Amino acid sequence: MSITTHSYGTTKHGEKVDLFRLENKRGTLVEIINYGATITSILTHDREGTLSDIVLGFDDIAGYESADNPYFGATCGRFANRLKKGSFTLNGTSYQLAKNDGENALHGGLRGFDKQIWEAQVNADTLILKRVSPDGEEGYPGNLLVEVTFQLTEENDLRIDYQAETDQPTFINLTNHSYFNLAGGGTIRDHHIQIHADHYTLVDETAIPTGELRAVEGTEMDLRCSLAIGTHIDQVQGLGYDHNYCLNQTDGSLTIAAQVIDPSSGRTLTCLTTEPGVQFYSGNFLNSFIGKAGNIYAKQNGFCLETQHFPDSPNQPSFPSTQLNPSDRYTQTCVYRFGIEK
Ligand code: BGC
Repeated sequence: MSITTHSYGTTKHGEKVDLFRLENKRGTLVEIINYGATITSILTHDREGTLSDIVLGFDDIAGYESADNPYFGATCGRFANRLKKGSFTLNGTSYQLAKNDGENALHGGLRGFDKQIWEAQVNADTLILKRVSPDGEEGYPGNLLVEVTFQLTEENDLRIDYQAETDQPTFINLTNHSYFNLAGGGTIRDHHIQIHADHYTLVDETAIPTGELRAVEGTEMDLRCSLAIGTHIDQVQGLGYDHNYCLNQTDGSLTIAAQVIDPSSGRTLTCLTTEPGVQFYSGNFLNSFIGKAGNIYAKQNGFCLETQHFPDSPNQPSFPSTQLNPSDRYTQTCVYRFGIEK
């Protein structure tokens, strides 16, 4: 496994951005920039041995900085996913954050972790991206030291380890927001998916959980047996899948959450996590974006598996807690495992 460092230009604020290329002996290649701790490319082989880029993104830093970037490949935080009315109460104090998704807050606010420059360190075969999110940033309490470690193994696992510490109680929920397309382009409706979840968090029309964990059994949300994504997608509430699945395994061990197969290329993606939930988002809001190499990304041309705690947890006492105290250490792991089905 090797990691090389390349210049990726400067942001509109004049900050220098680097790109880190991780490559293993199989020829799998992952590129990550320290703007937003963003995965910009993942190249894997199909069953014929052809290498294609299986994540959506842009060609340059200006693309990633553009206002309509839908979090391609980014690390979302301090609180990924939605917070109802952009607010929460912690130890009796109410906090109001920016409402950047209608009446709600989404993915950490106006300038969340996805829009920040991270300090990079290459340590043998790992890339460590760190930053301090200062007390009050985007309205969140506490200085938070965050570290995200990326590793591409010879077994073809892209492993992402998250760690954080705070000096005041706060809430935290981190995730990676890569949009995958295992065919390297076109619709993802033909990909087959399996998610190991008997329940999902039922949401209102603004995608905020009602608090109910609804059984998937007998509904269009049931993905427990591998099924083409397109099978029931048009019956799903809203424009398609954009829901948090409550994983059956909740003991914090690294466990398979979901498996995706693209029958045409043979590429497979297995997603493992230590987190209790995964937001399966079928790229419903992709609206003919012009992305890498002039590719047009239309509705359902990419999907995300955002491993995380449940949305709006700070306002839902029955959900697993997302509170981080100074005496605790936040840790979680996500693995995207790449394979080929013959
Ligand atoms: C959300 C979608 C949102 C997308 C891009 C996903 O995590 O669930 O509703 O459109 O991120 O912002």
